[in-house]
Parts: sequence; structure tokens; C-alpha cells
Amino acid sequence: MGFRILAIETSCDETAAAVVVNRRVLSNVIASQEIHHRWGGIVPEFASRAHIERIWSIVARACEQAEMSIAEFDAVACTVQPGLVGSLLVGSNFAKGIAVARSIPCVPVHHLEGHLLSGYLAEPSLQLPAVVLVVSGGHTLLFLLETPTNYRLLGSTRDDAAGETFDKIATLLGLPYPGGPAIEELARHGAPTIPLPRPLLHNRSYEFSFSGLKTAVRRYLSEHPLQSHAERATLAASVQEAIVDVLVTKTIRAAEEFHAATIVVAGGVAANRRLQEQMRAHAHVRNIAVVIPDRQYVLDNAAMIGLVAHMKLELRGLEAYYAMDFTVDPTPLRFYRHGAAKHARYGTETFSL
Ligand code: KG4
Ligand code: ZN
Repeated sequence: MGFRILAIETSCDETAAAVVVNRRVLSNVIASQEIHHRWGGIVPEFASRAHIERIWSIVARACEQAEMSIAEFDAVACTVQPGLVGSLLVGSNFAKGIAVARSIPCVPVHHLEGHLLSGYLAEPSLQLPAVVLVVSGGHTLLFLLETPTNYRLLGSTRDDAAGETFDKIATLLGLPYPGGPAIEELARHGAPTIPLPRPLLHNRSYEFSFSGLKTAVRRYLSEHPLQSHAERATLAASVQEAIVDVLVTKTIRAAEEFHAATIVVAGGVAANRRLQEQMRAHAHVRNIAVVIPDRQYVLDNAAMIGLVAHMKLELRGLEAYYAMDFTVDPTPLRFYRHGAAKHARYGTETFSL
């Protein structure tokens, strides 16, 4: 069963649109909002306005690159949770508008299910079960994908997300936003010799905590004011190593416990080469495959939203999505079980698309 889908993603500060046909991505257009950089963080009100200004041109470009017109789609898809309410409303109402004008259905999609299933964009025959690490500026989540449409949430962060930790520590080091790439670049010139804490590393749960690492770096800086480039590089490498160590250790432990065939790493932090290298090395000796999608599919994007919509349509058909009676939901960890939304409890419950 194949569908032609126009997908829209506006949950945070990326305005994105994609065309997905028969699970294949024909176009994937992403516009990041630079306006927030000067405020050192995302200003929700500005994000919504920027989405409104550019959404039509991004959608038009996605159609143009896919060589399709609005008249040719079978369905529209949009992110409805989680995210900034104003931003989600812009994308979802725009999607509903197109659906109404064309008398086609509109499929609501959970952003985190997009990241969870983004491994299929890199590897259509992904071997299951898979342990999926979603690491971005907003999320640090570990999932177990049991079947293509059923999953468990094994754990998430108690405080800061991994990307947020890179960003906050980069600020302490006087590096620009986003901090992850800046720390990675600086770390290439140093060795990870400073002992920094690895919070919850030996805790048997799959929860993460990174705020203690940030505090440790702040304390280190007050006791050892950094003089040279080499000292800064040593600290950057040590920070990167601490974060990577925690992410890799917990992911590998989960992969062993649940006999995973595959590990998928998604979200902006998946671009980190040290993380990729360490994850591959530890998985390789255990005979576990590692799938890390291209950068355009690990960052926030609409292709992953179109893919999830396609899978939902394969399950339920177009008829299920004409009602358009859904709303948006900012709550991060609310997933669906037998059609009802529930706050996720770690490990025990299986959720489905
Ligand atoms: O997925 P993403 O674009 O969206 C948000 O959650 O906003 O992720 C951005 C995050 C930022 O925190 C950034 O510092 C981090 O991903 N990041 C990296 C790298 N590239 C981006 N962190 C570590 N190493 C990188 N190379
Ligand atoms: Zn995301």
C-alpha cells in the first residue's frame, strides 16, 4: 500500500516540510530560525511568528523539489506533540487548511515517534528489536523498538538533555551556540584527562542526569582558570568523553538486556563523531548493528514525520484520518496505548503508533 504524503514539522525552531511517497523521501526542506541566537535560547513567540512567515515558501519548495503539486497528495501529515504550543499550532493548522481545501485526510504525528523511527530512513530493512537513543537539545531518550509500530520507553533524562549540556558547558567555555559542534571541534586538540563525573552511570535504570556534570565543570573552572588553548581543549575533550561514555554505556547495556539486533542513534547530538565512533566500537564486538541516519534525518525534519504518517496509514487506512478533531499537546512524554494517551512509565508499557 503506497501513499503520497506532504508532511509538515514546526514543533520548535525549525520550519520543515517533506514529500514522502511509498515510504521514500522525495524532498526534505528545513529552515532553521537564526533569530533566537542573539537571545541565547528559543523565544516561543518569535518562533511562532517565524513559522507563519515562511511556512508557505518551505512547503512550496518541498513540492517543487519532489516535482509534485498540492493536487497530487493522498494525505497531509503534521507534528502535533510535543513542542511549543504556538509553533505546533502554526504547522498543524496549515496542514489542516490544505487537507480541507483538497478534501484529503490529515494525519497527526508524535514528534518523538518521528525520531524513534528515523532509522528506517537510513535502513528500510532495520533489524528488530532495536534500542533507539534520541539525543538532541531538548531530549535524551532511550527506546526499545519491539516491532515497527510498537515500542517501550526505557528511560529519559531527569534534568538537562545531552545537547543542552553541550550547549550550557560551551557557554561556560565562552564558545558559540550551538555548543555541541564547538566542543567537538575544540576537543580534537586535547585528550580527555580531567576526571569528570558520569552521573547515574552505574545506576541500573535507563535514566540519565547531566546537571551534575555542568556543576562540576563550573567548579573546575573556578578552581583552574583556563589560560591556554591546550587547557581549553583538554577540558572540552573531557566533557565530551563524559557525555559520550554515559550515552554509550547505557545504550549498550539496554541492547544487551533486550537482545537488540540494532542500535539507532537519532537527534542533533548523533552528529557527534566521538559518540558515533564509540557506539560503533562497543556494538561491533557484540555483533550489534549501528544505524545513524544522515544529518538531514537526525536533526528535526519533516521526512521522519511523513514516514510515521505513512506507517499509520498502512495500519488504519486513509478513512481513519478525515475527522481532523485532534489538537496539539506540549507534554513531552505522553504516548498512545490502545488509542488512549498516557504518561509513559519507564520500561513496562508498550505504546503503539
Ligand atoms: O536535534 P536538534 O537540532 O534540535 C534540538 O533539540 O534543538 O539538536 C540540536 C542539539 C544542540 O544542543 C547541539 O549542541 C547538539 O544538538 N549538537 C551536537 C553536535 N551537533 C549538534 N552535540 C554534540 N556534537 C555535535 N557534533
Ligand atoms: Zn526533535
